[in-house]
Amino acid sequence: MSVRISAHDWVDGGTTPDDAVEIARAFKAAGADMIDVSSGQVSKEEKPVYGRMFQTPFADRIRNEAGIATIAVGAISEADHVNSIIAAGRADLCAVARPHLANPSWTLNEAAKIGYFDVNWPKQYTAAKSQLERNYERERAQAAENARLSPSERAQRAEGTV
Ligand SMILES: Cc1cc2nc3c(=O)[nH]c(=O)nc-3n(C[C@H](O)[C@H](O)[C@H](O)COP(=O)(O)O)c2cc1C
Repeated sequence: MSVRISAHDWVDGGTTPDDAVEIARAFKAAGADMIDVSSGQVSKEEKPVYGRMFQTPFADRIRNEAGIATIAVGAISEADHVNSIIAAGRADLCAVARPHLANPSWTLNEAAKIGYFDVNWPKQYTAAKSQLERNYERERAQAAENARLSPSERAQRAEGTV
């Protein structure tokens, strides 16, 4: 069973990240398996501080201080974000919402971008899979080559003079 909480109400007198650790401990004692760590949307007076992965610090604290599995959510928009959060032990899962509204193929696209090919595509879409993977492979090879060039060589390449 997972429980979603507001780990920070972003308003005076509301829940703080310190409170959230205690709230998570109480849910753990009551039998919850996992805390889905969101924040806000409980007061019109709230002043949230948005930014990339802005709620992940709350998931990190709950996981590591209360000792319960967490789901990180909020402005997680790339597979690299997900992998860094999981690898650093800041959460057990990441949930991605709005990027899927902008691009329903977000997961397929991100997998190709990081070179992870063992993904099932809908049968009707498989013609696009290898093309996308090839394009990203080319981009990665180009980026690796650019990284080896000096700044002046890079400028010449951009101008098309070499
Ligand atoms: C259209 C929409 C509806 C949502 N409805 C709810 C909801 O009913 N309850 C809730 O806790 N979060 C809701 N959320 C918040 C998402 O679960 C998620 O926490 C939030 O979008 C931040 O993640 P993201 O940056 O990946 O979108 C909603 C988000 C969107 C975009």
